[in-house]
Amino acid sequence: MGLEEGVHYEVVVTTFSEDGSPHAAAMGCRVVSQPLAILLKPHAESQTGRNLLRARCGAVNVAAPEYIVEAALDLGVVPMSFGAGEVVGAPVLCEASAVVEFSVGEMVRDDVWLRVRGSPVSLKYRQAPARPYSRSAALLVEVAVKLSRVEPFLGMNRREEALRLLSDARALIEDAARLAGGGRLGLLVSAVRERLYSLERRIPP
Ligand SMILES: Cc1cc2nc3c(=O)[nH]c(=O)nc-3n(C[C@H](O)[C@H](O)[C@H](O)COP(=O)(O)O)c2cc1C
Repeated sequence: MGLEEGVHYEVVVTTFSEDGSPHAAAMGCRVVSQPLAILLKPHAESQTGRNLLRARCGAVNVAAPEYIVEAALDLGVVPMSFGAGEVVGAPVLCEASAVVEFSVGEMVRDDVWLRVRGSPVSLKYRQAPARPYSRSAALLVEVAVKLSRVEPFLGMNRREEALRLLSDARALIEDAARLAGGGRLGLLVSAVRERLYSLERRIPP
């Protein structure tokens, strides 16, 4: 699948929520061997963390940057469709180029994080042409990382960190906009920018 041991990759993790609806979130992931495992670190209060604790299974989906941004910020710009996993009871992202279903082995609380060790139980590839690298899409992923951290910092009354993240995001989004063109990536930039503004409005004076 081309995943190198120890490298931090960004993927879309899919799980089922309590009400049976599929849930997708952008997450960092590492693969280790001997024994083969997928390491994830969802925030303890994230929907993904709660779903993994309850259902004990999920899927790691290798997907284009646009899906990572959508799954992180729930913008409603990039449509995602879900199918049923073939081995475990987890949804899979139909638009992914590769999907690894996993069952949760170990799950340990570490400060505000859950350290999850998943055992891969199936691997599926989908034939898709390689897409050219887009700096705009890559920048949007970086903006999404920063924006997804703002609310947790505000929740901990760490206003200065939240402000710094927003200021970093603001610098990156202008380059992303310049390079995006007017199609779907352009729409995604607009939606991310709107999210940035709405988070800025939530910063206490
Ligand atoms: C590239 C990228 C990587 C991320 N990695 C993680 C992660 O490893 N753990 C985490 O809790 N949130 C991570 N996030 C943030 C979540 O995707 C985002 O907060 C999400 O809405 C929270 O997860 P939930 O929908 O399961 O509640 C990441 C966001 C991005 C854009």
